[in-house]
Amino acid sequence: MGSGSGFGKVILFNEHFVVYGIPGIVSAISSVAQAEVSRTGEGISLKDARKGAEGYTEKKKTQQKESIERMLRAMGINSEKTSLEIWLGGNLPGFSGIGASAASSVAIARAIAEEFKMDLPDERINEIAYEAEKAYAGTPSGIDNTAATYGGLIWFKKTMSGGSNIVERLTLEEPVEIVIGNTGIVADTKEMVAGVAARKEKDPERYNLLFEQAGELAFEARTALKAFDLRKAGKLMNESHRLLREIEVSCEELDCLVNLAQEQGAFGAKLTGGGGGGCMVALTPSKDLQEKVATTIEDEGFEVLRTKIGV
Ligand code: PMV
Repeated sequence: MGSGSGFGKVILFNEHFVVYGIPGIVSAISSVAQAEVSRTGEGISLKDARKGAEGYTEKKKTQQKESIERMLRAMGINSEKTSLEIWLGGNLPGFSGIGASAASSVAIARAIAEEFKMDLPDERINEIAYEAEKAYAGTPSGIDNTAATYGGLIWFKKTMSGGSNIVERLTLEEPVEIVIGNTGIVADTKEMVAGVAARKEKDPERYNLLFEQAGELAFEARTALKAFDLRKAGKLMNESHRLLREIEVSCEELDCLVNLAQEQGAFGAKLTGGGGGGCMVALTPSKDLQEKVATTIEDEGFEVLRTKIGV
């Protein structure tokens, strides 16, 4: 049997914009997806034991199946002639927007590599997980699989000409508490990404301006995080949410979670991931503030994850 794991993540700045080569900032969180793989059974079977996975729509299940086929192909394994039993678990819930798909792809790729005695470096695991991400995101930027593979806090810029992406590790003075609130809506990243592309094509002038602002925001955010200026970083997260609303990837429930977190004193809050549902992330330095924001959101009937960035 082979086993492996992959980190969950929150995008702190510039989801969607990263697809077009604007820099983004992502952090792994301390929750992980775990996979075990054995060459037994008949065909390719998957047992998804992750919390929240029962809420996965049929569409997500189809994408999950396609992602595994893509990975096998990328690893040179003939899925027609191979029997694999895959088990997925870990403490990363199957919420949309916290990298559940990329974390599971990295975990599965590592487990398959171990089962087939392939000695693959992280760089190769990352490439394989990127192939898997295409099933979920259509034209992924690569930010999710990069965070899921390497962990930590990462500055990410997709290289549009096809070369290697820019991946730079950032460090925080110390890990910082965050709250992730789940709208409970299973969003389809592929549709959200396609929606932005369609709107951008229709109104290039307005979108180019918004993309420019997103680019500037990323550099300001990097400076703030490096200086451990969390107040400033929080303000920039609020600003990032505003831009994401402008490109129409937020929804009522996400705006509601953002408002709740801000009212309770979060330093900043925004949607995280593909949007249209999925999750909100709030910057809540200190255990007390984290608890205050988390319980308020729970009292409103939403699920939350209390975790940290920069671990
Ligand atoms: O919804 P998630 O967690 O898969 O996040 C996707 C992030 C996007 O920027 C919307 C797409 C991408 O590939 O970067």
